[in-house]
Amino acid sequence: MSGTVEWLPDAPGTDRDLPVFGSAHPMRDVTRRVAFDREWTAETRTMVAELFNSMAPTWHESHDTTARRAAIADALERGGQTPGPVLELGSGSGVGTEELVDHGWEPVVMDLAIEMLRQAAEGRGPKVQGDASALPFRTDGAPALLLVNMLLFPDEVDRVLAPDGPLIWVNTLAEETPIHLPAEDVVAALPGSWAATAGRAGTGSWCVARRV
Ligand SMILES: C[S@@+](CC[C@H](N)C(=O)[O-])C[C@H]1O[C@@H](n2cnc3c(N)ncnc32)[C@H](O)[C@@H]1O
Repeated sequence: MSGTVEWLPDAPGTDRDLPVFGSAHPMRDVTRRVAFDREWTAETRTMVAELFNSMAPTWHESHDTTARRAAIADALERGGQTPGPVLELGSGSGVGTEELVDHGWEPVVMDLAIEMLRQAAEGRGPKVQGDASALPFRTDGAPALLLVNMLLFPDEVDRVLAPDGPLIWVNTLAEETPIHLPAEDVVAALPGSWAATAGRAGTGSWCVARRV
């Protein structure tokens, strides 16, 4: 429930002139209630699953842009972590997964929306359909976690992430991503004490948080 954030200089080519979009989106309220009030009901789960299942057929073509990918790549390159096994939560159509593989990581991916998982390419590691509010993984079992534009379930992240593992958090439209938390709120929402390195690249922002 406490943390520090060190911001790196923006990567070359960072775009801070973002259109107003996510800050007015209904998922922003859901994001904050999940992170800070631990509010996640069966009705919310159904609504979120239906929302992303319905968007799955067009998600990849509308969300896979060079400017959005830049933030994921920058987090993997300047975040200070060593590639290895990683669990990606809310993996969607696999944009983040592709960056992981390209950067030498070995992902297991998980998403609530089965149609999103169907859109994601095969051959990049196991895909699991499930709810990140109750992860089907053992305590301390994830050497690293990646969340790209994904809800933060702080207690489950804290439970499954290995003691020395990094939480890699990316918003590909920075503060205009609907599912967005600033780095300062990521470390504040997590149980215990965390320190994060944060940065911006392309249209996005990211932080890599570790326990202190
Ligand atoms: C905004 S999309 C991001 C997808 C992908 N990471 C990207 O950036 O293109 C959020 C994803 O998180 C998934 N998601 C939402 N709530 C979830 C939960 N409780 N457990 C697992 N996945 C969830 C959605 O189904 C969706 O695919």
